[in-house]
Amino acid sequence: MRVVHSVSDFRALRPSLGRVAFVPTMGNLHEGHVSLVRAAHEHGAQVAASIFVNRLQFGPSEDFERYPRTLADDAAKLEDAGVSVLFAPDEREMYPAPQAYHVEPPTEQVEILEGEFRAGHFRGVATVVMKLFQIVQPDVALFGKKDYQQLMVLRNMVSQFAMPIEVVGCETVRATDGLALSSRNGYLSDEERRRAPQLHAELQRVRHGVLNGNRDFAALQQTAASGLDATGWRTEYVRICRRADLQPADPGAIEARVVLAAAGLGKTRLIDNLEI
Ligand code: PAF
Repeated sequence: MRVVHSVSDFRALRPSLGRVAFVPTMGNLHEGHVSLVRAAHEHGAQVAASIFVNRLQFGPSEDFERYPRTLADDAAKLEDAGVSVLFAPDEREMYPAPQAYHVEPPTEQVEILEGEFRAGHFRGVATVVMKLFQIVQPDVALFGKKDYQQLMVLRNMVSQFAMPIEVVGCETVRATDGLALSSRNGYLSDEERRRAPQLHAELQRVRHGVLNGNRDFAALQQTAASGLDATGWRTEYVRICRRADLQPADPGAIEARVVLAAAGLGKTRLIDNLEI
């Protein structure tokens, strides 16, 4: 695996790569990321990955400084998974001057769900992904469904800017007890880790409720939130939404749905979702 730190080195290498499937990450890799690399092999002749902890997508009270930087371990995992090129720029390389141009996703996509609690987050994600796409020039880009709203925003960005990139959403990888794998799980204490699968369990209850014909979506959402809060979580939202645009699902309509949730456990904020 080639490890490339500069934009110019990546550009010099790009013509020799042919068709590229790209997995952008912020490092601190787990099995979920490795599964994206595995899926990438089905799409491109060469798999490229990136590791860059993107300051622009962190709020002032978020964990940018303490976000784990584990480049050597991450590079070993990517190499084992068959990545051909790792692009790992530092901040000066990605933002040689303060980033003054931004991708501004539409309000209705980013002021809901995560955006209600993380102002500016998706603007930061869309801006860095636009920049990574300009550098890597991938044919296919793969993202996990764990960050469902991120996937929706990036799909729409690629479509609206007519970028010649196929965006692929990959299934969430879970621990055997149901907890969705996330870099942030590492912040949980042992006791919190034992309790963390409850988030997935509540989402499953909502999903079963809807599949069994319960059309009182407000009550299903409320019951899940109360179940979490009663055991010490701080629920931010549990919402049943339309998959296509993440607007509130219409209980009377026939439409593909997803239930999404975010809640705090101790000092850690977890998100998860389940397609219905
Ligand atoms: O999902 C992530 O890890 C990040 O949001 C991404 C897409 C790499 C952009 O920094």
